[in-house]
Amino acid sequence: PADSLALTPPMGFNNWNSTGCRPEFNEDMVKGTADIFVEKGLKDAGYQYVNLDDCWALPARDSNGKLVPDPARFPGGIKAVADYVHSKGLKLGIYTSAGTKTCNEAGFPGALGHEYSDAQQFADWGVDYLKYDNCNNQGVDAKLRYTTMRDALKATGRPIVYSLCEWGENKPWEWASDVGQLWRTTGDISDSWGSMLSILKQNLPLAPYAGPGHWNDPDMLEVGNSGMTDTEYRTHFSMWSIMAAPLLIGSDLRKASAATFDILDNKEVIAVDQDPLGKQGTVLSSEGGRWAVTKEMKDGSRAVALFNETDSAQRITTTAQAVGLPKAHAYTLRDLWQHRSYNTAGTISATVPAHGTVLVRVSADAAWAKNPPAVELGVDGSPLLEAGRTVAL
Ligand code: GLA
Repeated sequence: PADSLALTPPMGFNNWNSTGCRPEFNEDMVKGTADIFVEKGLKDAGYQYVNLDDCWALPARDSNGKLVPDPARFPGGIKAVADYVHSKGLKLGIYTSAGTKTCNEAGFPGALGHEYSDAQQFADWGVDYLKYDNCNNQGVDAKLRYTTMRDALKATGRPIVYSLCEWGENKPWEWASDVGQLWRTTGDISDSWGSMLSILKQNLPLAPYAGPGHWNDPDMLEVGNSGMTDTEYRTHFSMWSIMAAPLLIGSDLRKASAATFDILDNKEVIAVDQDPLGKQGTVLSSEGGRWAVTKEMKDGSRAVALFNETDSAQRITTTAQAVGLPKAHAYTLRDLWQHRSYNTAGTISATVPAHGTVLVRVSADAAWAKNPPAVELGVDGSPLLEAGRTVAL
């Protein structure tokens, strides 16, 4: 869209993956999450939106057709929650459906036919982000339904990030870049390796459609929800970042482990996701489940993910030339999980554990190009990222 919203992929939290519709989705959770964003440094790392998903409303509108927050979950209403979140320097998101009802079987009200009044109500509450779902859409054309809400949001005059959630059914990447700032590309993620992998593979080919202010959305993060190993969660977070996906935390941070925080708070990985050039990474090779994916960065460097889909350790290799870097005598290779730097004459190679990802950032090394050292470190073909052969700079 022709505005300055979401020039990098949105970062924040959404309750759905951890609570669904259960009662622990409530005001305490939302405020607690905002507190943790500030206290644990996640706000400083770039996490900004605290988003409510389905089930925040009562099933019936009031006599004026207005939406009513569920008083058991949100006794102070949504405006009070928004005020709290804003007081922490954060932003609030809300959810409804481009249908007569939302997706939950309890039948909460959707916005189809109520777009302008619901959008105004959200704006009046101080909402900064809307996720707009696809259930109970009555077969009305998707482009029409999503464009009507875009216009209704615009009419409020409040900047509201607009997240289309029609699960990729109508190829939104082909028409939604001037409708919303992000669009779901797939069905719902669940907290399993198989689900994450399937969504990853559906989202990777859509790289040409992503850019500043219009992002592919392969759904929210499951990191910390315990259905995957930490190695798998690092793959999930690495691959979402190299795809310039929205980073919406999906675990209950009030119960999150140190390992979960370490993943979500990895600023070198977040910098890949949030790079201002706004490119989604592309696949260089995937033979035998050994994936090399690369993302051009604004400073001319490349992020490279060496991702092992298989159930055993694999050697995965690419080169500086293959990822598009200019010819140089040497390159600096920064491992974004180990936080160590290496040199290479051009080979980018690692032994990657089963289901793991080695994520590096590679740049031509100007100092070395002018003045190559007497002993070349990390010559082509050497096991650069293996223990014992690493060279810290
Ligand atoms: C749909 C969406 C999910 C979630 C649920 C809520 O399934 O795709 O992300 O919002 O609805 O009911």
